[in-house]
Amino acid sequence: MLILDVYDIKTIVQKTGFKDFFLELIDILENYYKNWDNFDKMPRIATYFPYGVLELMPTSDEEFYAYKYVTGHPRNPNFNKTTVMATGQLSEIKTGEPLLISEMTLLTALRTGATSAMAAKYLARKNSHILCLIGTGAQSEFQTLAFDTLFNIKEIRYFDIDSKAMDKYQKNIKKYGFNLSQCKNAKEAVRGADIVTTITADKKNQTILTSDMIEEGMFINGVGGDCPGKTEMSKDVVEMSSVFVEYLPQTKIEGEIQQVSDDFPTTELHEVIRGLKEGRKSDEEVTLFDSVGFAIEDFSVLKLVYELAKKYNIGKELDLIPIMKDPKDLFVSFED
Ligand SMILES: NC(=O)c1ccc[n+]([C@@H]2O[C@H](COP(=O)([O-])OP(=O)(O)OC[C@H]3O[C@@H](n4cnc5c(N)ncnc54)[C@H](O)[C@@H]3O)[C@@H](O)[C@H]2O)c1
Repeated sequence: MLILDVYDIKTIVQKTGFKDFFLELIDILENYYKNWDNFDKMPRIATYFPYGVLELMPTSDEEFYAYKYVTGHPRNPNFNKTTVMATGQLSEIKTGEPLLISEMTLLTALRTGATSAMAAKYLARKNSHILCLIGTGAQSEFQTLAFDTLFNIKEIRYFDIDSKAMDKYQKNIKKYGFNLSQCKNAKEAVRGADIVTTITADKKNQTILTSDMIEEGMFINGVGGDCPGKTEMSKDVVEMSSVFVEYLPQTKIEGEIQQVSDDFPTTELHEVIRGLKEGRKSDEEVTLFDSVGFAIEDFSVLKLVYELAKKYNIGKELDLIPIMKDPKDLFVSFED
């Protein structure tokens, strides 16, 4: 079985380049979203603790099965650990044999960026070039580079309640040549933006975005509100927007739409990608991608890194499943 650790993922992405990696990942994601009906789907299995949430995210098509184990612990940075930590596995269905176990903290950031960019392709104005980021923690650079893959991002307006997180973001992203505007508050950051990404971590309902901040034609990419009781915008922002979700049964539990009535109109993103429903209808419309993260995104990135690892001969083969001459003679594993 192949094992990919953080250094292997770093090598794969460096060999491919961020831009080409995101392009390939967005392409795979779109193809799997087009094959939506072939996937076995369920809301993720979440166990909530006072510290945060532990989640299992399984899905499968006809050939492969994948799952991710992921945390959401907003206070972790105080203990020098990331808010989101993840590992995952890919198996073949025919025999059930595990093919790959991988780190997925980096892969989660990469696939979340790619999913945001894919959504923006259908929901943002085509000429979007001003990106706003509220929350400049672990995910923020990945969001930025993913959007820049599909859009000509010229200016980034950003805000975080932690000034050190803003300085870190600026240090990491300045070499990419964007016009960077560090803002005093969320209101200032949102002003004039084409794409507004909220990607904060807190264990409560926040109102980072309120309706007076929203301008005609904005695409709101709401990423940080992803648990019961953990949202990022006021109810009227949801109500004034055309809302798009990944998988409605999961988003109803975890997304911004927890705040609105059960019959609030939403569109699943795959319906737009498959041409069954419209995405953005006009340059004036306010669109909201109520992102919570869905298992098909983890499946996609695991498939991609598995293929790239084979191509570049990266990773370690480890015997986590016994190898036997006689598959009924498991006991021989204990002989010399
Ligand atoms: N939808 C998805 O697919 C998906 C994927 C990954 C992460 N997430 C979520 O995204 C969020 C961010 O993840 P991360 O790994 O970057 O976390 P992080 O802890 O590294 O960064 C979060 C940042 O948000 C800032 N913040 C908190 N409250 C704020 C506020 N009111 N205004 C401005 N900034 C504020 C914090 O100071 C911190 O810098 C988490 O809530 C996580 O659960 C969602």
